[in-house]
Amino acid sequence: MKTFRYEITDSTNTRAREYAKEHFADEPVLFVADAQSAGRGRRGRSFDSQKGGGLYLSLLFKPTGQECDAARITVRAAVALARALEKVAGLSVCIKWVNDITVGGKKLAGILTEGEICENGGFRYAVCGIGVNLYSREFPPELADIVTTVEDCVGIKADKDKLLEVLTEEFFSESGFSEIIGEYRKRSSVIGHRVEVRRISGEVFSAKAIAITDSAALLVETEDGRREELISAEVSVRAK
Ligand code: BTN
Repeated sequence: MKTFRYEITDSTNTRAREYAKEHFADEPVLFVADAQSAGRGRRGRSFDSQKGGGLYLSLLFKPTGQECDAARITVRAAVALARALEKVAGLSVCIKWVNDITVGGKKLAGILTEGEICENGGFRYAVCGIGVNLYSREFPPELADIVTTVEDCVGIKADKDKLLEVLTEEFFSESGFSEIIGEYRKRSSVIGHRVEVRRISGEVFSAKAIAITDSAALLVETEDGRREELISAEVSVRAK
C-alpha cells in the first residue's frame, strides 16, 4: 500500500484529507506518524499523540458496498484493531459504542472517521484515523485517570510496526459486515448497561443500552420506556 510516514505531523487525518483533494485515485493510501502536534478526536477534542506514545495512522480509501457510512467504517476499524491487539499483544479489549477501545473502563484507543460526501450521498473518499496508546507514559492530568496503554495492560512493549501490519490486514480483510458487527456486539461494553447519553445538541439523558443494530446505531430505552436508535451521540456507562 502506498504509505506516507512522518516523524511528526499535525494530524494524519488532515494529511490524508489534503492528499485526497489533489491525488486520490481508487487505491488505499496509509498515513502514519510517530507524533502529532494536533491529533484530533470526535467533537473537536484533541487526541494525545506524544512521540514514543503510540500508533497514529489514517487510512484513505474509497468505501464500497454496504459500508458506505462513517459508523460502519468505524465499526470495521474497531473490530480490526481488537483482533490485531489480540494477535500482536495478547490483549482482549472492549468496544464502547461507537469509537472507543477500552480495557477496564479506560480508553486505550480511539477512531475518527471522516470523509467527503458526493452528490449521490456516498463517500467520494473516507479517512479512518486510528490512535492507539501503546507505551506507558505520563498523560496530562485531565486524562490520567481515564486512559490506559497496551504496556500498562499487558506489561510488554508491543511491536508498533507489527500492529500496524496486522491492523491494516484486518481492516481490508474479506470479513463481511454481518460477521464484523457480530464481533463488535460481543465486545460491547455498553449493551445491557445503564448509560448517560449526550446528544450533539448537548442534551443529556439516562437510558438503558439495549442493542446495536445492523447499521451500527445504538438502540436505547429511556426511563419512560421510549425506544430510540442513536446514530450519533456519546454514551458513558453507569451501573448495570
Ligand atoms: C477519538 O478518540 O475521539 C478519536 C481519536 C482518533 C485519533 C486518531 S490518531 C490518528 C488520526 N489522526 C488524528 O488527528 N486523529 C486520528
